[in-house]
Amino acid sequence: MNQPVKQPELIGTSKNRLETFYDDVIEGLQSVPKRLNSKYFYDANGDKLFQELMECPEYYPTKCELEIFSEKTADLAASIIADGDAFDLIELGAGDAMKSTWLLQYLLKQKIDFTYLPIDISDNVINYLTVKLPLSLPGLQVTGLNGEYFEMLNKAASLSGRRKVVMFLGSNIGNMPANEAVDFSRELRNHLAPGDMVIIGFDLKKSPKTILAAYNDKGGITKKFNLNLLERINRELNADFDLSQFDHYPTYDPESGACKSYLVSLKDQVVNIDGRENIRFIKDEYIYMEISQKFTIMQTDQMAENTGFRPVGRFFDSKKWFVDTIWVAE
Ligand code: TRP
Repeated sequence: MNQPVKQPELIGTSKNRLETFYDDVIEGLQSVPKRLNSKYFYDANGDKLFQELMECPEYYPTKCELEIFSEKTADLAASIIADGDAFDLIELGAGDAMKSTWLLQYLLKQKIDFTYLPIDISDNVINYLTVKLPLSLPGLQVTGLNGEYFEMLNKAASLSGRRKVVMFLGSNIGNMPANEAVDFSRELRNHLAPGDMVIIGFDLKKSPKTILAAYNDKGGITKKFNLNLLERINRELNADFDLSQFDHYPTYDPESGACKSYLVSLKDQVVNIDGRENIRFIKDEYIYMEISQKFTIMQTDQMAENTGFRPVGRFFDSKKWFVDTIWVAE
């Protein structure tokens, strides 16, 4: 139900960001079925919850990828050093850069000429990395880029003409629906030149029980991580979600490899957003919150080949639960 158009009363300085957030939320909640975009999970609370989630015994992806970066550092480095020419090492969604720090440290020790360019949508993250990393990694050249991935890739290209190696870790590519992941990969290729490389982290298909448990941890952190988005909408968009009236429902389908989370309405209820929109829920109606796609190696190779890359390297953890693939732009 659209009320007469009036200017929203939103808190914060950056009206554009909030307006986009508002529009995305309303569009998602007025869709059938209802959905919310998981890219909004990471506010300050979401960051904290994700840190907690990474500590959970059931949540394996970060541990697996950290094992790859800490134990296969030399091989990983060798595969991106190529002829030893200077390069830009770009990281999309750098976060705390915990995994990449292993690689950075190794490259420095080998006296490789490179600059690290973390890209993140969070200015907190970028400020933190540009200040803190050179302290723990003396000699590291860091240029932090705060903004959207592709805009910042353009910026990186304008800063230097050096060869690019782009890291996209954490199976974040799995948080896009399959067709969007392919579009993303193609767009990434369009921002690169032949010979440039990418390192992409994919979570692999494995025991369905292991996967489901990771997104259904006993401590309930994943549930909080999902509910936090409703709380963020309450806070930033003046909404009145009653968090106690939504339950978290994670699923994993071994056939498609899709691990999805839903929030299910526990009763008939109406949620108001910013005094502008009323969203009706019937009991048991769900909001589709997130996907974390699991892949086979063959699917990762296919994605490379369909989007202008050639797969040239693969690094697994000891359980073979996770892979970091190296692709070269053709
Ligand atoms: N990429 C990680 C994963 O798939 C972390 C994650 C879980 C995530 N849910 C998310 C990242 C939603 C962004 C949005 O396990």
